Amino acid sequence: MGPVRRFDLFSFLLVLGLVLNSFVLFCNGGQTSSFVRKVEKTVDMPLDSDVFRVPPGYNAPQQVHITQGDVEGKAVIVSWVTQEALGSNTVIYWKENSSKKYKAQGKSNTYKYYNYTSGYIHHCPIRNLEYDTKYYYMVGVGQTERKFWFFTPPEVGPDVPYTFGLIGDLGQTFDSNITLTHYENNPTKGQAVMFVGDLSYADQYPNHDNNRWDSWGRFVERSTAYQPWIWTVGNHELDFAPEIKETRPFKPFKHRYRTPYRSSGSTEPFWYSIKRGPAYIIVLASYSAYGKYTPQYTWLEEEFPKVNRTETPWLIVLMHSPWYNSYDYHYMEGETMRVMYEPWFVKNKVDVVFAGHVHAYERSERISNIAYNIVNGICAPVKDQSAPVYITIGDGGNLEGLATKMTEPQPEYSAFREASFGHAIFSIKNRTHAYYGWHRNQDGYAVKGDTMWFHNRFWHPIDESPSFDS
Ligand SMILES: [Fe+2]
Repeated sequence: MGPVRRFDLFSFLLVLGLVLNSFVLFCNGGQTSSFVRKVEKTVDMPLDSDVFRVPPGYNAPQQVHITQGDVEGKAVIVSWVTQEALGSNTVIYWKENSSKKYKAQGKSNTYKYYNYTSGYIHHCPIRNLEYDTKYYYMVGVGQTERKFWFFTPPEVGPDVPYTFGLIGDLGQTFDSNITLTHYENNPTKGQAVMFVGDLSYADQYPNHDNNRWDSWGRFVERSTAYQPWIWTVGNHELDFAPEIKETRPFKPFKHRYRTPYRSSGSTEPFWYSIKRGPAYIIVLASYSAYGKYTPQYTWLEEEFPKVNRTETPWLIVLMHSPWYNSYDYHYMEGETMRVMYEPWFVKNKVDVVFAGHVHAYERSERISNIAYNIVNGICAPVKDQSAPVYITIGDGGNLEGLATKMTEPQPEYSAFREASFGHAIFSIKNRTHAYYGWHRNQDGYAVKGDTMWFHNRFWHPIDESPSFDS
């Protein structure tokens, strides 16, 4: 009996040890990066910086930017500003290696904000483009003409590879410039940017100095004129300032930036959806009403059934305020929207949610928190293979600086977090796999600070954690 008892005790201790070990693993969070950076104040680049230079020539178009102009990716909206005079609303465009030129006619507007009057802001949709084609386009027709180019996406379909860049909370500091430079020089070339809100931070200046909207437009033109940036609005787009009688939220953003919201049945430019190659992208508005019966709620409820994963396997959601965030900054701000919409995200197997707002980086496990019903007390996030991965990428480098304080201990659902500026790349390979990498500004262009192979939730919904990696 004696030896058997000793064996039982040994087995018991072994099992106990394993249980305790797994308990510790379960209770501890993921990784808080040990990367040590030099903490410096983030400062806006002065207005006479070369990145803000006004293009030479009379009434030269400036702040040129493009975005997708329809649901399918066969239209582009070209926008630009002329400062001295109205100039032409026309865009001339042509296919590479073709001498046949097309013309599209846009519209222009101006706006006033407190003591600021904008230049002439032009928006011109160009439609019926061919997929997967390089187009050149020209603006400033008849005055100072400027030429740019872009590629249309491949035809919407399940196995067309496509690579997105991710940038958030960019602003216009020296760090913002480093972020944009790193994105441009990343050897994995992004073909379009999913921008998760907070563009210029002009509202940080007295009277929301809208000249800083202009300088931001000139700063990012080197990317936005050549590839579409898919816009999400953040709190810094509100520009709501009743103290100076500016009470129409989003006034500068609405005049300057376009989204193809009507094409997806939305009634406001702040929430909409597009398809691009293999992806279905839903953009939500953290600062517009989203409760039951509101226009955004009604739209989103009708939107999910439209997603056909056989056509667009990858379901991506963009928003500004994150639902899962373990930094001290903006803690719980996304909670009410999470309570409203998270069950839909799990039911519809959203692959990934990208948010900004918190000026740092964080990636979650696949988790959900949808069991709570007021009386049952079940209110902790749990691992859920039908749930999205939540990524906070508000680390573009704006003048408010880094969010460095984190909640401790790191929550179980947080897989990786680091307070550094950077950008990310989400590279869809086919219907089952996408490779994701986050790049911190301090590293070389090819270096990744955090990576993950995504397995599509509809076509290949297996656990992506390292022990299950395939
Ligand atoms: Fe924000």
